[in-house]
Amino acid sequence: MPKKLIIAMIVLVPTVVIGTILLVGALDGDSNPTAAQAPVSVANGLPQFVSTPPPALDASAVDAGKTVYAQHCASCHGVSAEGQADWKIANPDGTLKAPPHDDSGHTWHHADDQLIDIITRGPAFYAEFPDSPKTNMPGFQGTLSAAEIGSVLTYIKSLWNTENRQSQWDVSSGGEHSH
Ligand code: HEC
Repeated sequence: MPKKLIIAMIVLVPTVVIGTILLVGALDGDSNPTAAQAPVSVANGLPQFVSTPPPALDASAVDAGKTVYAQHCASCHGVSAEGQADWKIANPDGTLKAPPHDDSGHTWHHADDQLIDIITRGPAFYAEFPDSPKTNMPGFQGTLSAAEIGSVLTYIKSLWNTENRQSQWDVSSGGEHSH
């Protein structure tokens, strides 16, 4: 064998072998890219969020939450969660009126963790948004237990129609914002 060919083999053979190992490894990794991400499907090359139906609301939490609501929320948000009259128009002092919590409001647009944060911290939550006006929404940390805050939210959910409840469930489970 000519010396040049031997040198070429010494250089090329390991290159081809290592290259093949790397290539096979890469192909193997690519062949099953979404295995860990189920139940996301792919359409038009984009991952799609798959909606699951929301679980039924705990009836005793709805009851307990109704009592909490009547005692601590109804004075502003309305006895039937209808909100203050003309709630979309700010007060003369620049503060906002209490919005409805039923389907006519926007409570159902927000995820659970954000709603719980608003109810728990009230003004401290809104203060984190520099453009938001001073709020009349009190924080209930110290007044209500975490369980009571959870139950009042469950009661509010019981006021929503099927479509809005599904939408809020999707938002809370990491799906697309509904609008
Ligand atoms: C003193 C009046 C008042 C009381 C009492 C009150 N809120 Fe509010 N709430 C407000 C106002 C005003 C807002 C509008 C937010 C703002 O001022 O920026 C608000 C906003 C909210 C929001 C956000 C709604 C959205 O769509 O963004 C939630 C959730 C909420 N309140 C829940 C409650 C719950 C639950 C209670 C009772 C435990 C309660 N509030 C008691 C006045 C009140």
